[in-house]
Amino acid sequence: MHQVMSATRGRRRKAGGAPLRVRRAAPADLAQVIDIDQRATGLAKPQYWAGILRRYGRGGARRRFLVAESGARILGYIVGEVRDWEFGSPPCGWIFGIGVRPEEREAGVASAMLAAIAAAFRRLGVTTVRTLIARDNRLVLSFFRSQGMMAAPVIPLEKEIG
Ligand SMILES: CC(C)(COP(=O)(O)OP(=O)(O)OC[C@H]1O[C@@H](n2cnc3c(N)ncnc32)[C@H](O)[C@@H]1OP(=O)(O)O)[C@@H](O)C(=O)NCCC(=O)NCCS
Repeated sequence: MHQVMSATRGRRRKAGGAPLRVRRAAPADLAQVIDIDQRATGLAKPQYWAGILRRYGRGGARRRFLVAESGARILGYIVGEVRDWEFGSPPCGWIFGIGVRPEEREAGVASAMLAAIAAAFRRLGVTTVRTLIARDNRLVLSFFRSQGMMAAPVIPLEKEIG
């Protein structure tokens, strides 16, 4: 995949820009988050994101909806939570979603967000972080692999019930 194999990939954020800050998401961030998600998936999901903000925003010690901002611009988001003893596994941090503005990628934004949510998970006492990704999403797989994430000792199963 050309996008994954691009040889012109940058490494860090350009010098001189406003510093990157990772913080909890707020209502005023939603429009930019919806836009970033829409540019990655082709779908605008305002109701979905309003629900994520309600459930993962401010409240809930074990839930996180974080954004990376630089000046007034939201560059990316990450959503996750610590779940207890699911499927026989001890409590573990889960990442449900991650996205970075296309023109801000390959500069460490997602790495900074993952480090921030992992630190929050660690403070909550867990030592493992997991995620589920589409099998053919090589870009997201490359990112998570770069962060040291490997195949987990669990597999998803599904069947059509419609
Ligand atoms: C995956 C994604 C979050 C990575 O964000 P990012 O800010 O560019 O990631 P980082 O700059 O922190 O990259 C960290 C590492 O990931 C890997 N990586 C990132 N982009 C890559 C690319 N295009 N090709 C190969 N490896 C890549 C590299 O190992 C990189 O480390 P390096 O720069 O030292 O080589 C971003 O590309 C994205 O939002 N993609 C779309 C997400 C998506 O498909 N969402 C819908 C389903 S969830």
